[in-house]
Amino acid sequence: MNPDEFRRYGHVLIDWLADHQTDMNMRPVMARTRPGEIRDALPASPPDQPEAFAEVIADLDRLVVPGLSHWQHPRFFGYFPANALRAGMLGDLVSTGLGVLGLSWQSSPALTEIEEVVTDWVRQMTGLSSAWSGVIQDTASTSTLVALICARERATGYALSRGGLQAEPRPLAVYVCAHSHSSVDKAALLAGFGRDNLRLVPFDAAYAMCPEALAAMIETDLAAGIVPCAIVATTGTTATTALDPVAAIAEIAGRHGIWLHLDAAMAGSAMILPECRWMWHGVEAADSLVINAHKWLGAPFDCSLYYVRDPGHLMRVMSTNPSFLQSPVDGQVKNLRDWGIPLGRRFRALKLWFLIREQGVAGLQARLRRDLANARMLAGQVASEPGWRVLAPVPLQTVCIRHEPPGIEGEALDRHTRAWAEAVNRSGAAYLTPAMLDGRWMVRVSIGALPTEAADVAFVWEAMRAAADGLLDESRPDRA
Ligand SMILES: Cc1ncc(COP(=O)(O)O)c(C=O)c1O
Repeated sequence: MNPDEFRRYGHVLIDWLADHQTDMNMRPVMARTRPGEIRDALPASPPDQPEAFAEVIADLDRLVVPGLSHWQHPRFFGYFPANALRAGMLGDLVSTGLGVLGLSWQSSPALTEIEEVVTDWVRQMTGLSSAWSGVIQDTASTSTLVALICARERATGYALSRGGLQAEPRPLAVYVCAHSHSSVDKAALLAGFGRDNLRLVPFDAAYAMCPEALAAMIETDLAAGIVPCAIVATTGTTATTALDPVAAIAEIAGRHGIWLHLDAAMAGSAMILPECRWMWHGVEAADSLVINAHKWLGAPFDCSLYYVRDPGHLMRVMSTNPSFLQSPVDGQVKNLRDWGIPLGRRFRALKLWFLIREQGVAGLQARLRRDLANARMLAGQVASEPGWRVLAPVPLQTVCIRHEPPGIEGEALDRHTRAWAEAVNRSGAAYLTPAMLDGRWMVRVSIGALPTEAADVAFVWEAMRAAADGLLDESRPDRA
């Protein structure tokens, strides 16, 4: 592709994306693709000769778009908001187009320094003190893995420089809530703690970690000669957006010198609203935390912000220093390869820089406030509707719902719940995520896609009631 063709097709694709965003409203939210359908429509072998690029673009409409579930759709209420603000998309495009890698500060100084600045902007936006330093990782899964590796190394006095965990005389334990995200368990296992040393702390009626139970588990482990190493608390759990009591947990962690990592992957975005900051009260006593800017805030995936209070420790654990990466200014700059696992670093900061400047903090705050108000509105309507229940507190933008018609209980109720949620999803009218809570199926309505307005929330509520009553017209994505 020569520079003129690049310019031409680049314009075509930006136009195509702009059209896609407006046309999306008329498409079914959940893909109606059969397993294997896309693969079967593609040639099994790569083209031997070059193809016209216009044909590649045409295949986007023919093959790709029909095989997508539309996360940016106004009636996407699945999983969590994974917003892609347009300014952020352009930042990603420029990042890819520049094709630079941050192996060291010297390999792309602007990449490192804009990352330093935007992580500090988000620190200020979320009300964190200047004691925190941030870096961008790909995902919360990686951020939490890095946190638990750092916890392991602090508890063992840098065992990695000796025999590693295998040479430790006593096992190390990690404490998580039974409602923590699965990425937390995975990080603990990958960091070498072992399932036997992963403690699932019980939760209270609001699905938040019980600090008393945590303290008791730690005492039991100490008595058994096990080293309490790390606690992972969550602000905004995945199932119900429950809020672990950070201050009480931090007090226990501080008493025993245990690493406290806070998973605020989804809810961290809400901390740009001063009125939400009570939700992570006590955060300043944590050792590390993660906020996914690629969720509700609006940075196109991926962009996970990892903050630590002791960057010196992080660098000691993560650093490598081969001769080809050394430079004369190493003593004066940050080499972000020492702040995480990968050596190569994308210019992810650019999309965050673009979108914060384009929206302003006030613009981002206004959208999140809209979503919080919409969630409260839906929760109020569901709670006052006979036969319907809101199953958990709604501090944020997720409403956990069940339709409980008289006489339907147990497994029959589970079948009913899954059937109406799947009917909504199959209809294409909206996208919902069924999930288990207290051993029974329920439906999460996660509000906060960029174009979702109050009318879309009213629409999904209509669609849910119609589906639960068996009256949903599944052939009409535009009708509840
Ligand atoms: C609370 C919480 N933690 C962690 C994650 C994992 O995020 P990621 O996909 O960035 O690893 C999620 C995502 O759903 C989440 O809700």
